[in-house]
Amino acid sequence: MSLLYSPVTLGPYTFKNRIAMSPMTRSRSQGNVPDDLVAEYYRQRAASAGLIITEGTSPSPNGLGYPRIPGIFSAAQVAGWKKITDAVHSKGAKIFVQLMHTGRIGHPNNLPEGAAVVGPSAVLAAGEMYSDAEGPKPHPTPKAMTEADVKTAIGEYELSAKNAVAAGFEGIELHGANGYLLEQFIRPNSNTRTDAYGGSIENRARFVLDVVKATTAAIGKDKVGIRLSPFGVFNDMPLYPEMEADYAYLARALNATGLFYIHLVDHSAMGAPAVPQSIKDTFRKEFKGVLILSGGYDAARAESDLAAGKADLIAVGRPLLANPDLVDRWKTGAPLNPPDMDTFYTPGAKGYTDYPVLATQPA
Ligand SMILES: Cc1cc2nc3c(=O)[nH]c(=O)nc-3n(C[C@H](O)[C@H](O)[C@H](O)COP(=O)(O)O)c2cc1C
Repeated sequence: MSLLYSPVTLGPYTFKNRIAMSPMTRSRSQGNVPDDLVAEYYRQRAASAGLIITEGTSPSPNGLGYPRIPGIFSAAQVAGWKKITDAVHSKGAKIFVQLMHTGRIGHPNNLPEGAAVVGPSAVLAAGEMYSDAEGPKPHPTPKAMTEADVKTAIGEYELSAKNAVAAGFEGIELHGANGYLLEQFIRPNSNTRTDAYGGSIENRARFVLDVVKATTAAIGKDKVGIRLSPFGVFNDMPLYPEMEADYAYLARALNATGLFYIHLVDHSAMGAPAVPQSIKDTFRKEFKGVLILSGGYDAARAESDLAAGKADLIAVGRPLLANPDLVDRWKTGAPLNPPDMDTFYTPGAKGYTDYPVLATQPA
């Protein structure tokens, strides 16, 4: 019997299957407010996934580093998201919003008036950021956050967590992966602080743990997950000798908070360095909550990793982006639509809500 396609109860939630949709930025939210088109995109994919994890969504004006990404700090944004959670629930799926503060990965052109590109320290990230006004431009050197800025940011996560519940989400996923603000605090290359938030791993993990504690206290432990990318190098985050020990510390410290899930990224199928099985095993051993694995999964590998007890849910990105009816296709062995990279981040319906489903394809 398939584990992948069978319902499962984890904590207070019963998921219709063990497939989670990986968080994927799609840059369709004009004015940083998700609209009916965004609702249609998620409604389509909620037919296949037991759990939808949304695209990175900013808890702060300062975190809107990319063009046309949504936020969840204003009333208009909360009203926009309500339509999406309703659409997803109507298909029998659950939905968590990924809270992504881009930190030093951004460009002032993408930020609203008064917002700034900030980070734990004034350490420039190599690379460029696209804006509609000027195309790709180098990242600016971020403004180093003061201790008061750190407190403000924690408050922004807390308010956004409450907004998420008001918008009808089951919960939030803190984006602690892929080189954005939370990971910028964890890693020693981007965090050179000398206060309580920098130096030892206990200090570099403090911001993440403060955010976990503030959000779990605000909305409940069963409503908070976190995504991490041990051995990830995206957005100028080099490997370093203490990486595995640092993440083992995080696994233990996060377990102590009692949050609902940890979601591990593995981008080796996209050309990134391998993520050692040992670190995934450490998370499985140390963390008693729900574990989600992601990256390059097809149905066979998902089924075998579930059967081996390596994970509770399997997150799938590009195959679901391009195939709203992924479960039907996987079950029948039908061919998959390939994802169209040219329309990953472009405005409008093309390459977003117009991927064909089996029933509408010519015989
Ligand atoms: C278009 C696109 C946008 C993405 N945006 C995000 C994001 O906002 N947050 C995040 O954590 N990961 C993001 N990712 C990474 C995916 O969540 C996932 O880890 C990656 O695609 C590998 O999984 P897959 O092989 O199933 O596609 C993105 C990936 C793609 C292709």
